[in-house]
Amino acid sequence: MVLRLAIVGCGGMAEAHLRAYITIKQKEPEKFEFVAMCDTILSSAEKFANIAAQSQTFKPRVYSSLEDMLPKENLDAVDICTPHSEHHRAAIACLNAGVNVTVEKPFGVTIKASKAIIEAAKRNNKIVAVAENIRRGLSQRTAYWIINELKMLGEPRLFFAQHASWQDPMEERIWHWRIEKMLSGGGMVMDSGAHFADMLRYIYGDPETIYAKVTQFERWPHKKGDRIVHDEREDSWIAVISFRSGLICTWSWTIAVPGYSYTNVVHYGSKGCLLDHGDVFHGPFDNAEIIIQDGSKKIIYPMRALEKEYLNSLDNEKKNRLFPYGITNGVFIECYDFLEAIEKRRKPEVDGEEGLKAKALCEAIYEPAYLGQPVNYRDVLEGRIEGYQKPINEYFNL
Ligand SMILES: NC(=O)c1ccc[n+]([C@@H]2O[C@H](COP(=O)([O-])OP(=O)(O)OC[C@H]3O[C@@H](n4cnc5c(N)ncnc54)[C@H](O)[C@@H]3O)[C@@H](O)[C@H]2O)c1
Repeated sequence: MVLRLAIVGCGGMAEAHLRAYITIKQKEPEKFEFVAMCDTILSSAEKFANIAAQSQTFKPRVYSSLEDMLPKENLDAVDICTPHSEHHRAAIACLNAGVNVTVEKPFGVTIKASKAIIEAAKRNNKIVAVAENIRRGLSQRTAYWIINELKMLGEPRLFFAQHASWQDPMEERIWHWRIEKMLSGGGMVMDSGAHFADMLRYIYGDPETIYAKVTQFERWPHKKGDRIVHDEREDSWIAVISFRSGLICTWSWTIAVPGYSYTNVVHYGSKGCLLDHGDVFHGPFDNAEIIIQDGSKKIIYPMRALEKEYLNSLDNEKKNRLFPYGITNGVFIECYDFLEAIEKRRKPEVDGEEGLKAKALCEAIYEPAYLGQPVNYRDVLEGRIEGYQKPINEYFNL
């Protein structure tokens, strides 16, 4: 059966999805066809349709709204890459129309929005996947293997992910949906932070308690037409997260501290550490190092060498499932997994529940900052604490 696919929201990230689907088509031409492209800016949908047309015998139809597209198209799959505020609206409309969806991170704009998507999927017996590419990468899957299967680091103890830098707040910036709380739901805690929250849960399991301060030191003016509006997102946070396993973690980020910049990401266990060399959102990276303490000696294993060992350790079934066609790009893997999940009526690797739980960790950083006291992760996940999210939920009648 050739799946009938549409992409909704034809912007920056969607282009990576489009390219990934084209690669899938080169591998398995009969797996799916691009049937439609939808963006409120019709020229963006047109651009995608023209690119997609080069990979098949016809040009996908273009739409400027889902309301227009859904009744006219008989779709199996919709890939949603809109601003965060639209994730639940688009996903629920598709699911109610009987179409399977994959939704970019962060899953819903709030916990309630995320749960509403899961409910709609259950009601309509359709698949909801989350396009979480980072945990599917080679270095991230290798890090899971190192920490949880080989137990190279011993028992996980402490984890630091800290970034401090300075960006000039007066530099000219142009308005974008991300700067409005009602459109984005929040700042980097849940934007790039959604990846890290997912990655932390993937490697270390569920968090237990979280305390955080989230703040904005600068106002960050942006030009919106002939007006100046201010960024509503945080420019700084410090969070202390403890996990059920006993692991304690500090995760902090700021772009509002002049004079000295640094990034420090280290996972410590009882036998050694994973020293990462990248940012505080997308790691562990290929250039990380595992440093094992052997008495007074230190033994260093480059991540790249361990990646090779990890790949060699996989049997063919697992290798093909985790890295179809040997491709290690997370966006390719997530798009392929979505199509496979529909075809085989199986759970996607990152489903709505996983997306919700990563989302809950991000909200469990905003909520204690809003309350001024630590929160229990489960209270946020189960909706008992939602002061920060309340205005967003009210805005969307959730
Ligand atoms: N996985 C990653 O590494 C990664 C990286 C960047 C962005 N993202 C995620 O991808 C999503 C999109 O982000 P982006 O950076 O591509 O944003 P973007 O602004 O570049 O693209 C969003 C697109 O959605 C369109 N749009 C807005 N409302 C719409 C609606 N109701 N219906 C149809 N189209 C609509 C916009 O016109 C725009 O073309 C976000 O969820 C973001 O967090 C993920």
